[in-house]
Amino acid sequence: MKKGAKTKNRLIRRLAMNCGWLGAVLLSLTAWAKPEFHPGEVWLDTNGDPIQAYGGGILVHSNVYYWYGEDRTPGGRGAVACYFSTNLYDWKREGVALSRETLPQIDGRPTFVERPKVLFNPRTGKFVMWLHLEQPGYHYARAGIATSDKPAGPFTFLKAIRPITAQYGFADNDPDHQRESGGTVRDLNLFRDDDGRAYVFYASEDNWTMYVVRLNDEFTGPETPAMEDKTWARILVRRMREAPAPFKSKGRYYLITSACTGWKPNEADCAVAGNVLGPYQSRGNPCTGPEAETTFGSQSTFVLPVQPGKFIFMADRWNPRRLSDSRPVWLPLILRPDDSCAIPWQDRWELSVFDAREKPADKSSTSVSGEISPKKKRLGMRLRVFSKTYRMRHLCCLILMAGFFFPVLSAPAGARENRQFLSDWRFKQGDARGAERPDYDAADWQPVSLPHNWGWEHPGSGSVPSIVVFLALSFPFSRKEFL
Ligand code: DGJ
Repeated sequence: MKKGAKTKNRLIRRLAMNCGWLGAVLLSLTAWAKPEFHPGEVWLDTNGDPIQAYGGGILVHSNVYYWYGEDRTPGGRGAVACYFSTNLYDWKREGVALSRETLPQIDGRPTFVERPKVLFNPRTGKFVMWLHLEQPGYHYARAGIATSDKPAGPFTFLKAIRPITAQYGFADNDPDHQRESGGTVRDLNLFRDDDGRAYVFYASEDNWTMYVVRLNDEFTGPETPAMEDKTWARILVRRMREAPAPFKSKGRYYLITSACTGWKPNEADCAVAGNVLGPYQSRGNPCTGPEAETTFGSQSTFVLPVQPGKFIFMADRWNPRRLSDSRPVWLPLILRPDDSCAIPWQDRWELSVFDAREKPADKSSTSVSGEISPKKKRLGMRLRVFSKTYRMRHLCCLILMAGFFFPVLSAPAGARENRQFLSDWRFKQGDARGAERPDYDAADWQPVSLPHNWGWEHPGSGSVPSIVVFLALSFPFSRKEFL
């Protein structure tokens, strides 16, 4: 070969190699930048500042999420901050929804806000905020109510109330003045039922008993006249629970609460009822995994429905020395067929966990192995959904192939992919042939309790033989082993 031709070939080879490396680096970066939730870690808004929305809740309005919560920025930016998102991962700060200046002074002393929640009232077209309005010492203990014409505010403070004035043997010298002013209101949450009626849940009677109270048509106060067990009820009586996070699924009402230990985390409880006013039956601690007995070092604040039967559990990992440095803990919450709910710990996770369909199988004395991964299931589903035309099918195949190959090709030598499992996955002993088919009957598959961090792995060394082995193992099933 001539010298010129040799140099040309070498150049082409180098160029191809460099392109390969560049592609691999770019693809690795894409994989790294993949949106995920990182429970208990600092969560930055789109400006790069830590999100300040503690004790908060989310309003879904016109297909947009609004996250309201306590703004604990040192020096103080506002009482309640509002953030906005379309995908639940990226949050843009909309600003101060409720300013400190609008809060009332009581007996010449300032008040502060905890646990704000917002509902939209379609009848009045107003956004209505309820919050725990407090003073140092925690004896003021009232619900503050504010309204706005726009979701991000500014909200106008209307009043501070104790909605229920029924007497439950309150003492004369009660520092909370419950005889004179009604049952205390501390940690609270709002819930709007399918029939459009709204309710406030709050820790009352000096936190001994939880109240659930139906709101008036404007959502600005209790429905009147208030009638016990008709428009309002005492629930979890004398159980000393706070941090209520209510939600509904398939006609059942669920209520996650914490015990009352100040800023210190404790064990959560999930209670369930057939009626929004109760009675609520405790189903125990829904959390599983490390630090499940302290709600993973956090305290419930809200449960956000994302799909039928699938929810995000929102909590705060309080840092009492520096409340502005408390951390959001968001985790998937899954309802089990027996009415109990499960919140398995995840170091990191993405919304696609909700698409995963449980399967897998085979158990021997030393190992559990099985087939069919949630990944495989998802691919199948998507192909079926989009396979109406050949073009669409090809496009989907192309995207799926790209997503499938690139992380493997770009993985450094010896890398392994690790997938985590949700604790409500079901397994089967023995032969599971045909499990990839949509009409496969998995009725006899059993739940198996797995440590939270167990998963499956495949060789991702990037070498051609390892990819071939991986592909061979992946079709028609993805196999996984639990040691
Ligand atoms: C627990 C409550 O849930 C928080 O909102 C806050 O009020 C702390 N107690 C204060 O100790």
